[in-house]
Amino acid sequence: MQIACVGVVGCGLMGSGIAEVVARAGSDVVVVEADEVAAKAGLARIEKSVDTAVARGKLDAATGERVLGQLRVVSDFDALADRQLVIEAVPEVEQLKVATFKRLDDVVEHGDAVLASNTSSIPIMKLAMATRRPEHVLGLHFFNPVPVLPLVELVTSLLTGSDAAARAVSFAEDSLGKCVIRSQDRAGFIVNALLIPYLLSAIRMLESGFASAGDIDTGMVQGCAHPMGPLALTDLIGLDTTMAVAESLYTEFKEPLYAPPPMLSRMVEAGLLGRKTGRGFFDYER
Ligand SMILES: NC(=O)c1ccc[n+]([C@@H]2O[C@H](COP(=O)([O-])OP(=O)(O)OC[C@H]3O[C@@H](n4cnc5c(N)ncnc54)[C@H](O)[C@@H]3O)[C@@H](O)[C@H]2O)c1
Repeated sequence: MQIACVGVVGCGLMGSGIAEVVARAGSDVVVVEADEVAAKAGLARIEKSVDTAVARGKLDAATGERVLGQLRVVSDFDALADRQLVIEAVPEVEQLKVATFKRLDDVVEHGDAVLASNTSSIPIMKLAMATRRPEHVLGLHFFNPVPVLPLVELVTSLLTGSDAAARAVSFAEDSLGKCVIRSQDRAGFIVNALLIPYLLSAIRMLESGFASAGDIDTGMVQGCAHPMGPLALTDLIGLDTTMAVAESLYTEFKEPLYAPPPMLSRMVEAGLLGRKTGRGFFDYER
């Protein structure tokens, strides 16, 4: 079954980017948000990203128009009924994702549809077991910003069928032009299991007064040729998402290096979530 009709659940930072690249690749996309207000904001986010791509010459105006014409952002979950692939991108909260997969199992009618999660860290088995079709559940972990970064991690659980995995890989590689790497079903998969301890170390360094935020980031940009420093990257990911991923890793492995430092917890409690709220380790214009 060629995948031509795709659904996305959640139209935040990641869901909007995933919807955009899927529509750019020519598929018909339905995005479901929590309510009407969030759906409106989600569509505006996609429109802004497409407009920026057109303004920068990365997309011609006609293609930009076609991309937006292939997308619908709605608040009605039933609109996902005819989808062949659904990619879930709701916040990194286990109960919310489990509830979303239960709902997808009830709503999506295609017996062969692939139900994918963009989770950064929650074991896929926990989501698969919320459905009556664990053989069709897998992780497709995109990277932020989705239109720019080529990587997708494919995560298969002990119960994922080889046919569903093959169709997901073919879609990501052949239709979206992404580079796919495969990970077993362990919290954090490959990239976040390596990245999160590094980000948390930078936060601990700042917390202990060891160096300033600017110097920590400049060190990694100028000294190690990273495109951005760890604190700016945490601001880009979102401090809430970074903390949720750290908690999943800590729950799975019980290693102190994954434990969120108090400074991160306090900033999340204060709503200082990074770029998305205008303030994190650095300040941003909104
Ligand atoms: N932020 C990153 O850099 C990044 C990178 C890779 C993967 N991820 C993963 O992607 C997922 C989403 O993260 P994000 O950064 O886009 O979060 P986000 O907070 O920007 O977006 C989440 C969206 O989901 C919507 N939502 C909440 N409940 C919903 C529901 N019941 N039904 C439909 N929509 C609902 C929210 O309104 C919001 O727009 C998480 O699992 C995260 O771990 C994030």
